[in-house]
Amino acid sequence: MKNLIEDLDVITPRETEACETFQVSKDQNTGKARKLYIESYGCQMNYSDSEIVASILQKEGFDTTSDILQADVVFLNTCSIREKAEQTVRHRLNHINGLKKHKPEMLVGVLGCMAERLKAKFLEEEKIVDLVAGPDAYRDLPALIGQVDEGEKAINTFLSREETYADISPVRLNSNGVTAFVSIMRGCDNMCSFCVVPFTRGRERSRDPQSILAEAQDLFDRGYREVTLLGQNVDSYKWSPENNNKAWIEKRGANDVITFADLLDRVAQVSPDLRIRFSTSHPKDITDDVLHTMARHENICKNIHLPIQSGNTRVLDLMHRDYSREWYLEKVSSIRRILGEDCGLSSDMIAGFCSETEEEHQDTLTLMDAVQYDFAYMFYYSERPGTPAAKKYPDDIPLAVKTRRLNEIIVKQRAHSLQRNLRDVGKVHKVLIEGFSKKSEDFLHGRNTANKVIVFPREQYQKGQYVQVLVDECTGGTLIGRAVQ
Ligand code: SAH
Ligand code: SF4
Ligand code: F3S
Repeated sequence: MKNLIEDLDVITPRETEACETFQVSKDQNTGKARKLYIESYGCQMNYSDSEIVASILQKEGFDTTSDILQADVVFLNTCSIREKAEQTVRHRLNHINGLKKHKPEMLVGVLGCMAERLKAKFLEEEKIVDLVAGPDAYRDLPALIGQVDEGEKAINTFLSREETYADISPVRLNSNGVTAFVSIMRGCDNMCSFCVVPFTRGRERSRDPQSILAEAQDLFDRGYREVTLLGQNVDSYKWSPENNNKAWIEKRGANDVITFADLLDRVAQVSPDLRIRFSTSHPKDITDDVLHTMARHENICKNIHLPIQSGNTRVLDLMHRDYSREWYLEKVSSIRRILGEDCGLSSDMIAGFCSETEEEHQDTLTLMDAVQYDFAYMFYYSERPGTPAAKKYPDDIPLAVKTRRLNEIIVKQRAHSLQRNLRDVGKVHKVLIEGFSKKSEDFLHGRNTANKVIVFPREQYQKGQYVQVLVDECTGGTLIGRAVQ
């Protein structure tokens, strides 16, 4: 079995959070006049926005392509979350500059968070960029492209308080036909001191629940079997039927508004065969109401991404996270009490935040021991210009110390991921099949409710089916078993 495990252990839990990978638009051939190539960086919300961009431009005579050399318009949908994410985009622009020498008519545009952060500076610094559009300006893209066609540079980085693109049906660019992402809100009103998102994505606003439900129903009707509801802080989703206005909502009180728990409850009723996931939860905002709603519906997956960032209360205060170590541990107890020990828990961690001492770093490690996350995204602190932390606190932990602390966190997480996976061995799991395993078409892969990747022999099973799988082996990243239906 060992070799099989090494061969198949190639799938990591789906990236729903900030990461340094990217996605490329797929080929569409409906005979449209122009070709659009989009490369998306950063979090799933950015990937989801690229699908909105493709939808807007489809109506304007564009097919998407996965081949940059075929493209008339090249968009990079960018991320600013860490310095490295921005460097990746700059390297990519250098490369595209080389391509443009052979194809000068190719329009190059920068979208997303880095476009929003740098605005017109982009046009000055990166001469090959023709167009800059922030996350709330995508409806304007046809006009902006028109401007470039007329020989001008084009820019729109206006941030809106209302835009949710609720009426736009996204073109699924990288779809397996089984799982899809649905944005339920935009922006963020938290001011975590390290974070650039409130500056690049603007104020928090929730999307009309009717349009969310319609999108989920449409996906189900088209054969999709899982939706992940996306927002920077899904637990603060709020929508009032009469007026989606925060001041009004606060005045009227909780009974008149649709909360995240209400929304979950409604989406879960689309069909018992449609699985629901969501990301990201903020520890200060997730309510017992949400946990009880999850417990009530079998099809709401038992997995919570609950980023801690640091296990030390002083550091959490400096980060403006609005919870303490103890509060967080209390939340974890509620999750385990209401949803059981097998509920998947994942986290984000930042090593070496401003002034973090060795003891405070140890607190992150002991918190990890106490929680035993199934999975975590782990980073070292990267100062972002203009954020509260950049203004107030010196970035004073040397890089060597940051990376050493990060490594300690990673080593611990690897051990915990393996321990948590070992608990699943010998048990039968309900798996939604997402496709072939990466290495072999003789095997399929899917996930259990706790978001664990499970690989098993294909037999007669197919993508989109639910199957009961008995797990008999595991690694830190994958469970391996066989269907027992
Ligand atoms: N809305 C989510 C996180 C979005 S950003 C939440 O509140 O949890 C994803 C992750 O990137 C964060 O959770 C954090 O761990 C990391 N991150 C954000 N800013 C960072 C920075 N300046 N340096 C390093 N990591 C950062
Ligand atoms: Fe950034 Fe905090 Fe908002 Fe998450 S909740 S996007 S970390 S400001
Ligand atoms: Fe996402 Fe990166 Fe923007 S994580 S919200 S694309 S800064």
